[in-house]
Amino acid sequence: MKSFFALTLGLLSLGLTQALPLAAAAATSNPSANGTRFVIDGETGYFAGTNSYWIGFLTNNKDVDTVLDHIQTSGLKILRVWGFNDVTRKPAAGTVWFQLLSASGSQINTGTDGLQRLDYLVQASEKRGIKLLINFVNNWSDYGGMPAYVTAFGGKAEGWYTNAKAQAQYKKYIAAVVGRYVNSPAVFAWELANEPRCKGCSTDVIYKWATETSAYIRSLDPGHMITLGDEGFGLPGGSSYPYQTSEGVDFVKNLGIKDLDFGTFHLYPKPWGISNADGAGWVKNHAAACKKAGKPCLFEEYGVETDHCTVEKPWQQTSLGLAAEGMSADLFWQWGDRLSSGQTHNDGNTIYYGSADATCLITDHVKGIKAAKVVL
Ligand SMILES: *[C@@H]1O[C@H](CO)[C@@H](O)[C@H](O)[C@H]1NC(C)=O
Ligand SMILES: *[C@@H]1O[C@H](CO)[C@@H](O)[C@H](O)[C@H]1NC(C)=O
Repeated sequence: MKSFFALTLGLLSLGLTQALPLAAAAATSNPSANGTRFVIDGETGYFAGTNSYWIGFLTNNKDVDTVLDHIQTSGLKILRVWGFNDVTRKPAAGTVWFQLLSASGSQINTGTDGLQRLDYLVQASEKRGIKLLINFVNNWSDYGGMPAYVTAFGGKAEGWYTNAKAQAQYKKYIAAVVGRYVNSPAVFAWELANEPRCKGCSTDVIYKWATETSAYIRSLDPGHMITLGDEGFGLPGGSSYPYQTSEGVDFVKNLGIKDLDFGTFHLYPKPWGISNADGAGWVKNHAAACKKAGKPCLFEEYGVETDHCTVEKPWQQTSLGLAAEGMSADLFWQWGDRLSSGQTHNDGNTIYYGSADATCLITDHVKGIKAAKVVL
């Protein structure tokens, strides 16, 4: 999703309901892929999950525990989080940041307001059998992102992928994060970036960068999966904006990269200028490409600002219906909850724990997955 702001502390009070009994305790093998299917804790099949960009930035362990308890009891297995938090100036004490970018010497924050927050999230996820999809940089300026590297090291946004200084520091950061969790069964996969784009560039730019970066991650950690984190632009099946390669992304070409273990795609019809009804075709066309490549597809983010249940339910059903045909998981954007400080960020897409939307898009979806018996 493009825009993220700091947590907004709303006052809406929610009736929280306990949906399902506690899921099984954490196992010790790493998630993997077998053909077009994910394998998690020995189960091969289709999985549901969600996104929480903010959970690694919370400073209260109890809040992290509360959210993870709710995710676990809801039957969601995969949680995508921001593994980056880049700044170009040190914030005031008490504000979490992971990396300070500067041409005169960058700094990775391993302190209590730095990567120790991510450490807690990983440990707490291990206890609950939740699998984390962790990414390393944002295309957007939220939490720094590529624009923060550009501020520090110069050049243009589209030059980030080939800027030697920016890439050297990005790799240092990757090594720092991967090194901390290389042995953790709570890592679902490493993700190169959130929504990498390179407007007007040859698709070779992102392709080459993704090839080199994924090979680098594999050299550091041969035991976990790796993925790109793109929106899935550039593939056959349509002629509207997201099917084009104008953002420098070729989904099919990137899927062929040896060290990328699965494909990712997002769905936001309104900002892309397509209709909600085009969502099913978008899912089907990605599934077909994944099936052809022999790798699973992860429907990694999807959202609308109104009528969440009515609009998103058919997308979930299309994805689940293709469980043996390329699709292996979906993660709605984004998880909403109530923390000690109040309600989490409501960007219009948020599905709040305990709400009617959550019954529709989480409880009923998880039941549907179980009923479909896609666990092989
Ligand atoms: C992968 O799945 C196939 C069935 O589609 C199964 O026969 C095979 O044993 C699985 N491989 C692994 C390594 O689990
Ligand atoms: C991120 O995407 C936007 C939209 O295409 C673009 O303007 C921006 O330059 C991108 N960032 C990079 C590093 O290309």
